[in-house]
Amino acid sequence: MNKSLRKTVIAGNWKMNKTPSQTTELINEIKPLVSNADCDVVVCVPFTGLQAAIEATRGSNISVGAQNCHWEKSGAFTGEISAEMLKEVGVKYVIIGHSERRTYFGDTDVTVAKRTRAALDAGLTVILCVGEYLEQREQGITNELVAIQTKIALQGVTQEELKRIIIAYEPVWAIGTGRTATARQADEACSAIRSTIESLYGKAAADGITIQYGGSMNAANAAELLAMPNVDGGLIGGASLKARDFAAIVDAASK
Ligand code: 13P
Repeated sequence: MNKSLRKTVIAGNWKMNKTPSQTTELINEIKPLVSNADCDVVVCVPFTGLQAAIEATRGSNISVGAQNCHWEKSGAFTGEISAEMLKEVGVKYVIIGHSERRTYFGDTDVTVAKRTRAALDAGLTVILCVGEYLEQREQGITNELVAIQTKIALQGVTQEELKRIIIAYEPVWAIGTGRTATARQADEACSAIRSTIESLYGKAAADGITIQYGGSMNAANAAELLAMPNVDGGLIGGASLKARDFAAIVDAASK
């Protein structure tokens, strides 16, 4: 397995944190610390901070992402944001199907697929999140579950469009809990996802797709996780809100 065939991507998921002015402040702190990164660096900020993030990252090696989008282009969907709206403000990435969206806001594999389609149609790169609950891990169905989540989300996605898909394996029990998957557990699930991609799109596509790990990744455990053959980056929550911690993870990914 040759990791050099694919991009390593470190993305911060800021979740519901930081006002627009705080966004500018944090990005200005992060920028000099990651300017020599040998990986792609992304910050996924709240909708209200996108404009500030786009301005603060201009001319830097940091790209901006959003944390969700609706599947329709426009219409009577109070409180929602379309992929086209994100594209026009300069957003490059969008997280789709995060477990917090699935758990608290009713996202399902089917709506995740619809959002993915809309994001791809708008020209965005999707960070597609999959992952199991603790009960499912204990039941021994993690690999099957992430495979089916991946298959449903990618229904209708072409080989060409797959180049704008990153998959983030995020075991729900590891998110925000301080309990990280072991490097072996992370690699095994990422490998199951890669096999799923191979069955759908062939070996070259499977070798080329970036699969991140997310769930309590931090400055101390990043190097071990990122050294695994199937882990091509991280989707970072809590630690992405501290410039030095986030930069340390970017450093670990750049080695
Ligand atoms: P934590 O890094 O805070 O566990 O969050 C992970 C996550 O949900 C990233 O999307």
